[in-house]
Parts: sequence; C-alpha cells; structure tokens
Amino acid sequence: MKIQIINGPNLNLLGVREKSIYGNSSFDVYLEELRKRYPDVEIEYYQSNIEGELINKLHEIGFSFDGVVMNAGAYTHTSVAIADAIAAINTPVIEVHISNVYKREEFRHHSMLAASCRGVIAGFGLDSYRLGLESFLIS
Ligand code: DQA
Repeated sequence: MKIQIINGPNLNLLGVREKSIYGNSSFDVYLEELRKRYPDVEIEYYQSNIEGELINKLHEIGFSFDGVVMNAGAYTHTSVAIADAIAAINTPVIEVHISNVYKREEFRHHSMLAASCRGVIAGFGLDSYRLGLESFLIS
C-alpha cells in the first residue's frame, strides 16, 4: 500500500506555530512514529506553501498511489483549483485537519475540498493523519 501525505501552507511550522492549537510535535517526528507503526505501508510526504505546487503534486501522484491524506491548511477554505485537482485524479483523497475547524472561526467551517474528497477527519490533533491513513487500510 502506497500513501501520500500532503501538507499545505504553514504546516511546515508544526511544533513551532500556535502550539495551543496545533501541538508541540514537529511533523517529522510524528511521521517517523507513523512509519514505525505501519512498516508495511509506504508513506511518502510532501509539504508546500504554494498552491500550484500542491496541485502539481496531486497530478504527479494522482494516478499511481492508493490514497492521499491531505491537509491543505487555509487553502481548504479558499481553493477551487485544489478542489478541481482532487476531482481530476483517480487516487482517493481524505481531507484532514489537526484542529476541530468547526469549533473555530466561521470562515474555517466551510471546505472547498470536502465534496471532492472521500471523507473528512478533523480535530484529533496529529492523529487525524493516522486516522486518515487507517481509513485506506479498512476500505
Ligand atoms: C488546519 C485548519 C485550517 O483552518 C488552518 O488554516 C490550518 C490548519 C488544521 O489542520 O487544523 O492551517 O488545516
């Protein structure tokens, strides 16, 4: 099984950025734990702060991987272009969020991407990524 994790803007600052919302752990440390926990799953990781680069990555892997676990950060709430890219590829995408976006500002309540995704997971801290990955193991 081949899973691509994609993180969007500002998620390179995990462990540094707004720790009360996003926690103390860097994504690299979490990723190592995830790879140890699922040694049989090939987990690739990509992060970019640039919308077009996220789209290029979806195109690049979108016909070869088994699944994508994507946290598009703030682009979740704004990007028609990322929604179109998700709809264009064959690989199913799970939208994930570290925080419970529904408990936060109203502009975070709407996702442009969710309708093109297989499902959405929000509010479980970094474990949202693990739950996204596990969803591909059960279906
Ligand atoms: C986020 C929630 C978004 O609203 C925000 O812009 C982020 C992170 C989350 O993981 O909780 O950058 O996607």
